[in-house]
Order: sequence, then C-alpha cells, then structure tokens
Amino acid sequence: MNKHEAEQEIQRLSELIEKHNYNYYALSQPSISDYEFDKLLEQLIKLEKEFPELVKSDSPSQRVGGYITKEFKQVKHRYPMLSLANTYSEEELNDFDERVRKVVGDEVEYVCELKYDGVAISLTYKNGMLHQAITRGDGTQGDDITTNAKTIRSIPLKLQGQDYPQEFEMRGEVYIPLKVFERINKEREDAGDEPFANPRNSASGTLKMQDSAEVARRKLDSTLYYILGEHIPFQTHFDSIQGTKKWGFKVSEHAELVKNMKGVHEFIIKWDKKRHDLPFDIDGIVIKVNSFRHQQMLGLTAKSPRWAVAFKYQAERAATTLNSISFQVGRTGVVTPVANLKPVLLAGTIVKRATLHNADNIKKLDLRIGDTVWVEKGGEIIPKITEVDLSKRKNDAVPVEFPTHCPECNTILIRRDGEAQHICPNELNCPPQIKGKIEHFIGRRAMNIESMGNETIDLFYQAGLLHSIADLYDLTVEKIIPLERMAEKSATNIIEGIEASKNVPFEKVLFALGIRHIGETSAKKLAYHFKSLDALEKATTEELLNVSDIGEVVANSIQEFFNDSLNKKIIERLREKHLKFALGSDEMALFSNILEGKSFVVSGVFSKFSRDELVSLIEKNGGKHVGSISSKTSYIIAGENMGPAKADKAKKLGIPIITENEFIKMIETN
Ligand code: IVH
Repeated sequence: MNKHEAEQEIQRLSELIEKHNYNYYALSQPSISDYEFDKLLEQLIKLEKEFPELVKSDSPSQRVGGYITKEFKQVKHRYPMLSLANTYSEEELNDFDERVRKVVGDEVEYVCELKYDGVAISLTYKNGMLHQAITRGDGTQGDDITTNAKTIRSIPLKLQGQDYPQEFEMRGEVYIPLKVFERINKEREDAGDEPFANPRNSASGTLKMQDSAEVARRKLDSTLYYILGEHIPFQTHFDSIQGTKKWGFKVSEHAELVKNMKGVHEFIIKWDKKRHDLPFDIDGIVIKVNSFRHQQMLGLTAKSPRWAVAFKYQAERAATTLNSISFQVGRTGVVTPVANLKPVLLAGTIVKRATLHNADNIKKLDLRIGDTVWVEKGGEIIPKITEVDLSKRKNDAVPVEFPTHCPECNTILIRRDGEAQHICPNELNCPPQIKGKIEHFIGRRAMNIESMGNETIDLFYQAGLLHSIADLYDLTVEKIIPLERMAEKSATNIIEGIEASKNVPFEKVLFALGIRHIGETSAKKLAYHFKSLDALEKATTEELLNVSDIGEVVANSIQEFFNDSLNKKIIERLREKHLKFALGSDEMALFSNILEGKSFVVSGVFSKFSRDELVSLIEKNGGKHVGSISSKTSYIIAGENMGPAKADKAKKLGIPIITENEFIKMIETN
C-alpha cells in the first residue's frame, strides 16, 4: 500500500470505527460485535504503525491509550464549574418550585434527570474535535486530563453532523459501571491491594492515573448533561439533550420533560424503585428549568445555578444486631475484620455481613458486640456499618478488641508505620496464607493449573504434601493417589497440569509469585523492563522507580520479597524445576543492546509514537529512560510542546535534543 492509499484507508477505518462507536454508546444500538470492532481497531493501529506520519490526534487508536502524563497541567475553567443545591424532601422541592415561579411566572417546564454519582468533567470541542478535558478541581481550575479522557469510548473524539458551534463546552459525569467496578476490585484483591471503597472513588482515582493505557483498561463511561458556549443552537435544555446526542454524545438517556411538580414527584418515586436496577450508581435526581430564557432570568448564585436543584435519595439503611466479628487472614497476611450481623433486608438483598476495613474504623465506630448498628448500602456494593444506635446499648456490652495475635496461627500481629492494616508476619506457617498463596499461584491468570482447585490444595495441605508453591513441583502421581477421593485419572491430570505450567511465560510466573502490590499489569511491565527474574532481583530502588507506574510502595515490596530468605529458597527450588524466569528467545529477538549505557529523557507530545512506545523502544534496545535532565543524560527526545525550562537546561548542559525520527534512525542504522 502506498502512502496515499494508506491515508485513505486510515480515514475510512477511523470514520467506520467512530460510527460504530457512536451507534454503540450514544444510540445504544450496537451495529457490529465487539470482536469485529476490535479487529477494525487492530487494522487501524497496524496501518498507523506502518505510516506513523499519518496518525491524527483524533484517531480512534487513541482510545487504547499508551501515553504517560507525568504531571497534570492546571487549567482555568472558562465558566466556573458550579455545584447544585441539595434537597431531601418534597417540601424543600416545592420551595424551589415556588422560587422559580416567582421569577419566571407560572408556565414553567422542568426536565428531570438522574444524578450520576461520578466525577464531573468539562470537555471543550473546537471545530468538531475534542480539544481539552478538564476535571472540576476547585471549580475555578482543574486538571487537564485530555489524554485519559480520550480512552473513554463514550466521549466522542470527533463530532457527527455539521450543525455544532465552532467552539463549545460539554459537561457531564465520568463513572465506572458497577460490573467493571467489581472486576477492578477483584483484580486489586488478586494483587493483594485494598479494594476501592466505591465506584466514585475508583473513577476519580482512575482519571488521575499517569498511564492512559491503564485508564483504557478500566473502561470508564460517561454521560453528558450540560452544554455551554456563545452560540448554542438550542432554546431549551430538553432540545439540547436531543441535539447533542445527534452530535455523538452519550446524554442523559432517562431524562423526562414534565409540566409541573406533580411530574417531578412521579419521576422521583419511579426512580426510587428503579435505581437499583441501573448498571451504574446514582445518588439522586436533578431537576432543571427547561427554557434557556428562563434559566437566564433566574441566574446563578456564587455556588450553584438558581435554575436547577438536586434531590438526594436517602441512602438505604437498616438497623440490626452485631452478633460477632470475624477476623479473616488473606494470602498476604492482611487481617480484615468482618461483622457478622443478624440477617436484615436492605435494598432488596439480605445482608448478613459487613466489612469493617481495619482497627481504626472499629475504634471510630466504638463498636461493642450485641450493639444495634445501622447498616448502609449507598454507593458501596459491600454494605458497611455507619453508626451505632447508642440508645439501645446494653450496660454489659463489651468493646471490640482487635486481636493481638493471628486468629489462625496465633503469631503476634504487626502493624507497619503509616499503614492501617494489621498483618500476620508468619508467612511460613499460617494456613490461610500458605493456601492463599498457592491458590493465587495456580489461578487462571497466573500459572493456570486448571486441574487443581481450592479443595485439592486443602487436601494436599492437610496431607502434609503442600506447604509452599515450590512443593507443587515435587508432587507425583504415586504421592497423591493414596489420598482420599483421588482417582487415578484426576491424579494424572493434576501432575500433567503442574508439568505443563513450566511453559507459562515469564510475565505470568512473575505475577504468580504473589509479590504484594504486583498485579497482572505491573508484572508485565516489570518483566518487559528487566527481562529476567535475576535482573529484577538485583534492581536498585532507583531502577525500579524508572519503570512506568511503579511507585515507592511497589518498589519496596519487591525488594522486601527478594530479601526474604524463605522466598529465596522457594525461588531456587522453582528455578531447579525450570520455570520460566526470563523472557523467551523469540520475545528477546525484539531487543538489542544498541543503546546500552545511554540514557534518554522523553519530553513533549509526539506524532508517530506514543510516549510509552518510545520508552519501551529505549528499554528494549538497552537504553535507560530517565525522568529528568541531568549532566548524565545522553539525549533528549523532544516532541511538540517541550517545556522551555527543559530546553534551556538541555542547552546549558550541552545535551543533544533529537526528534523521534532521529531516534528511530538511531535504532535502525545500527
Ligand atoms: S447539572 C451547574 N445534571 O452533581 C451545575 N449535574 O452536586 C450543573 N451531576 O457538579 C450540573 N448528575 O457533577 C447536572 N444530571 C446531572 C448530574 C449532575 C450528576 C453532578 C455534577 C454536579 C454535582 C452537583
């Protein structure tokens, strides 16, 4: 394909992909399968790799991320981002209606919408293209999160139709659908990390991540509900919803136009029941005056518009008795308190347990066994105890003491400085830790030993055959066949499954080792960066921090892991059994040592490669990527918008500044 043909094909694919994207997100009418969609995107990405000079800033390939934002730029809002006044009762709502009618007269229509429980975002469009995405911040200025916002599929990069203003702002909410939230938390637990408390927290945390590829993986969603600008072609809010939907936005799909307060109340009652069936969280509804002319007459206060109000649903709560507290020990030794409750009906499900998080939380609640407690299911999926009903406390109620010793193995618990959790340090002999580590190791996304399950692990553990992940590779059919319920067929399957796991690639082995805070993604990053377990083991803190998205907590945890004598022994035993402790030779073929001894600073915005790709090219070819310029820096690869301070410093130190093309030539010519 020549360049001209490629250009046309890229254009065709981009338009097709955005069209399908629009059908899926804005219209909720998928026009192809996810598989076909991914294929189209793959085709586009492949072509763009071949012709990097043809990549546009609004290309749908941006949706997969891969750009690193080291620091989010602060941007002033063109129009301040206000909040909404809250109401909690019918009376308060009627007061709002009265205030409105005093100003605009009796003929007032309202639009009722859901109040999305996420993170407010402002999107600026120029000439039909997404120009900038900013968080709310303090209302006057927020963070520029454009790169991350581009990975959100329901945010159009390029608008449909022609009748949009040359420049305008769309506001709305970014949130994490409940299903995705559950998946993310599952992954966090897999990595031994504390799960997010609720979808809202995880959405705001995700928007501020440095690696946009990770943001893309988190699958955020959005709904937009407010247009701002000089030449808006609508007279009413309701028309603006229909109109902006045609341009490609995912808008308040459950919005309704009502004639009076009766309609508003009906809407509230309807959604009080139905809100639990939504695939995302809402925390109330929003009532807006429909006519823009009326909105102008009403105006704004310093904090919020006078033409809109929020109605908040009471978080659903129920009172019940705290029967006891269990202390559960996880595979990394973290001890989590869980409340056992007298079963109670809450938001349609029977609740028997509630998480208590940690010792501080128990103290804050001042819990006693036998207390009557209030259980709430707000944004959270896991119910939590919010309050003790002190009027019902019995005189002899005993305060809850956090155990000083592990409930499973009786070892003295420790609590590290600055950490909220108690940990059982007895990795070697604490049963749930031993079994938990093995369960993690054999998991589908780790060593994938399908022939074994948690029950088999328990059986082998009870029989004294399995004490660590290394013991797995000493098992034989002869050893396990005498065990209860163990048929010859399943025994053979198990041993074959374990044998087959020796071919699992290095990055999965690294994940399987269960190093605290190392999830699937960070395991991959570390594997590609260091290429072997030996190199990772020898890495200094500084070298670890050079890997994108590896922070101090993770770096410490890696070093702690390798310094542990027990882990050293396990690793040696696994090495003897020939598990893959390094990247394979075919993977290594992509690498060279051409850049060895050279260090690079990557700065600015690039057109052919993403920052991440450049960094990975540096690393794959033996070079070192560093965050800031020093006299030791060999080259600066500069894209557009490199900061003037950096350019000055480079000049002063006499460090050569090269373009991405020159960098590529450097790898190629060698
Ligand atoms: S309209 C001038 N509509 O709630 C404010 N806001 O508590 C215009 N929110 O800051 C906002 N759903 O982040 C509007 N359908 C909706 C909303 C909504 C959620 C958020 C928004 C706002 C906050 C106020």
